[in-house]
Amino acid sequence: MARFTLKVNGETHRNVNVDPDTPLLWVLRDTLGLTGTKFGCGAGLCRTCTVHMDGEPVPSCAIPVSIAEGSEITTIEGLSQNGGHPVQQAWLAEQVPQCGYCQPGQIMGAVALLAKNPNPSDADIDEAMSPHLCRCGTYQRIRRAIHRAAEEV
Ligand code: FES
Ligand code: FES
Repeated sequence: MARFTLKVNGETHRNVNVDPDTPLLWVLRDTLGLTGTKFGCGAGLCRTCTVHMDGEPVPSCAIPVSIAEGSEITTIEGLSQNGGHPVQQAWLAEQVPQCGYCQPGQIMGAVALLAKNPNPSDADIDEAMSPHLCRCGTYQRIRRAIHRAAEEV
């Protein structure tokens, strides 16, 4: 075990006492109680667990907590207090989720895309979002929601 200081959603958590190899995902969910980030494959392959590290979308299941220390981490809870972030609102307007399980990761991917490219083409969206798997096949609605959010952001 070791003690880490983590900056998550603008808050500093000191003395986070976990094994250095613990995936960031489990520290967020089990230690810090931020359960909006979901577990899918656990192998960096589905992006259900996406959070931002210094603005970059990363699979938190594949990031040891020891690597995450020192970065600004943002989870889905950090986007807004009440679901009012423009991307979350666009998701609602387009009724994107089906089972919903992959959607926090999809939204975090979309927010990172729009931060870099405020007016993405279909091809830009497909390229940026291709690592994010959705077993319900909501890809067309995700694309529409990103275009809608781009008009708002
Ligand atoms: S749960 Fe992390 S990439 Fe699948
Ligand atoms: S909405 Fe069900 S996995 Fe994406």
